[in-house]
Order: sequence, then structure tokens, then C-alpha cells
Amino acid sequence: MRDELVEAFAAWRAFSPGGDEGVRVFFAPGRVNLIGEHLDYNGGQVMPAALDLGTWAIVRMRDDGVLRIASTAFGERVTCQIDKLHYDAADDYANYPKGAIWALMTHGVKAKGMDLLFHGNLPNRAGLSSSASVELATLVAQNHLCQANLGLADLARLGQRTENEFVGVNSGIMDQFAVAMGRENNAILLDCDTLQYELVSMDIGNYQLVITNTNKSRGLMDSKYNERRAECEAALADLRKMHPSLRHLAHVQVEEWEDWQSEVTNPVAKRRARHVVTENHRVTLAAQALRAGQIGLFGELMRQSHESLRDDFEVTGRELDALAMAAWSAPGCVGSRMTGAGFGGCTVSLVENESIPAFQEEVSRWYHDEIGIAPSFYVTGIGNGAREVTQEVLD
Ligand code: GLA
Repeated sequence: MRDELVEAFAAWRAFSPGGDEGVRVFFAPGRVNLIGEHLDYNGGQVMPAALDLGTWAIVRMRDDGVLRIASTAFGERVTCQIDKLHYDAADDYANYPKGAIWALMTHGVKAKGMDLLFHGNLPNRAGLSSSASVELATLVAQNHLCQANLGLADLARLGQRTENEFVGVNSGIMDQFAVAMGRENNAILLDCDTLQYELVSMDIGNYQLVITNTNKSRGLMDSKYNERRAECEAALADLRKMHPSLRHLAHVQVEEWEDWQSEVTNPVAKRRARHVVTENHRVTLAAQALRAGQIGLFGELMRQSHESLRDDFEVTGRELDALAMAAWSAPGCVGSRMTGAGFGGCTVSLVENESIPAFQEEVSRWYHDEIGIAPSFYVTGIGNGAREVTQEVLD
């Protein structure tokens, strides 16, 4: 058993005495988005990948309808009745598993009480979907243990419902979809309108994904996120006056945008829309570049994506801009951009294997000079989606 899980099991035994009888283990990864940002709620295309970092859920069913939740990262434990689940700010992280079980029950699944202990190695609130990871670990556990037999894409939708209707965050489907459906060494090219997807191989030779954390907490994130959604909706409403059949902002083609942009009256909404239209086009080009092995072109598109998020969508901020700028000129880096919602969190960079130490040194030095704190680095592989891991963990 890996060392960190030995510790997690010690915490588990203190939390849920009763031996190893009936104990099962599930894992759900975090995700990084390679390109296609703020497009999921605009009906566009995104290209996330599941990480090999994530959240383990150690669980045991109970037959008394009680849900007990603990985490190795947070002190508080939460106990509640499975048929009386509601959001409570005081429950903090435990609202995600509570909400996930609530979402399953609204879908008609007869969920069961359980002891549930989480252990993770993803940084929290860093834009790598730690909350979607907790939701999907819970959903997959209940799905197996209650034999609900739901597919992973359905579980992803229930994860999104958890955020939207239980937690009250108006997010799109990208995070939960990537966390549920991830495939080792592949990115997922997902059409967020139809939920059709294709895997795109990330066997890209001598390059590695390097995630860099600004270590800036994303305080205003939820309100700014909702503000961006509203601005996109305003742009769509303007365009629909002339084009009533337009369903999503991301469905506007770049060539159409040249002629249509004057129909968006508010200059801020116009810039938001320009990001959406050009970013969706970049995703198409990025997928083609990856398939053709044109890593340099892919890296250039990552950079353009960041610039568009900085100048038109305005979700980067000093810290993310400093990291991206540092990466663009650092040794062995072919491309770098912010990933996730923005306003803090992480960048993702593609870096040549042998240059990774020099890359980290250069980015750290630059970031420290600009911002005054140190960034953190995660050199990660692309892993599989949410699943049971009892055998591999307990053997
Ligand atoms: C957050 C949301 C996602 C998506 C990204 C931006 O991660 O949860 O649904 O909108 O921001 O691309």
C-alpha cells in the first residue's frame, strides 16, 4: 500500500472501528483543462484531462440510514441522516458528499447510509477540481454499493447538479465529466452542448504537463464566475435579435463574428463574446495540432488562449499572468496558460522532460520577484477517471 494510504487507513480505523469487514475504496481524480476555458456553459468545446492526483474515499455501508463523513485534511466530522440532507455552510467540505448523495436520491436511487473517509493529494481550491473529485468519489461509491448501475456520464451530470442545486455554484459540466470519464494518457475533447466526446492521445514524446500553483486563494471566484456567465448571456441575447436560432454563444463561427460583433451593444459583453468565439476555434485547432503531432502549434494556441482570457475575458490577474509570462520564456516550455475558472489557482505548461528542473527554477525566481511568494509545482501524468480501487489498495 502506498505510504499516504497507510496513514489514511490509520485515520479510518479510528473513525470506523470494526475491522476490515465490508471496507471498500474508491478513487476520483482531479482534472486539468488543456484548452477551452469558460466554454462549457457557452455550449462550446473543452479539452480537459484527468490527473493522477485525486481523492480516495474509504467507505463502509451502514444499515441505519446514518451518513458519517470525515477527512484526513479537515478536522470536522459530520453526521447526518440520509433522508434529511440539506446544505449547511458549517459542514464545509462535507456538503459535497452530502450533495452528491442528495443528487443521487433525486434521481431515484435508494442511497444508503455509510461511513465515509476522504483522503486526497490535490491542492484544495486551486482550480484542479478537488470538489468534483470528492463528488465523483462519493457518487461512484454509492453507485457500486447500492448497485444503482448508473453510467459514468450520468454520474458526471449528478455531480454538476450537486454544485448547481445543492452547493449553489453555477458551474458547467466540464469538471465532473473529466473527473468521471478520464482516460490514462488521453485528453477528452468534449462538446458541452451534446456531451459527445472524443479521446485525443497525449502520447507526445518527450513532453510533460507541469502544473504550477499561484498559491493565491481565489476569494472572489464565485461572484466573478457568475458575473462572466451573465455577461455571456447578455451577448447571446443581443445576437439572438438578428439570429433567433442561435442556441449558444460558442456556436458563432469566427468568420460570422466579424460581421455580427456590432450587434453586441455593451463593449464588455462584446469582449467576453470574442473570447468565447475565438477560444472555441482554438480548441478545434488544438485538437488537430495534437493529432498531427504539432506540439509547437499546440503550445502557441495555449499562449493565445491565456492572452484572450487575460485581455478579453479578464479572469487571469497578476499572479496567473506572472506565472504564464515566466513560463513562456522558461527553458523547454512549448506553451503555458491558466487552467480552470481563473482569478488565482494554477497554470498548466507543456515542458520538455529534461528541462523541467530548469523550468521550475526560472519560473520560481521570476514569480518570487514579481509577486513575493513561491509557487508550487506538480509534475503529473494523465490518469483514469473515477473508479473502485479496493483490490489494488488492499492487496
Ligand atoms: C470552473 C467550472 C467549470 C468551467 C471552468 C472554466 O472550473 O467549474 O464548469 O466553467 O471553471 O472553464
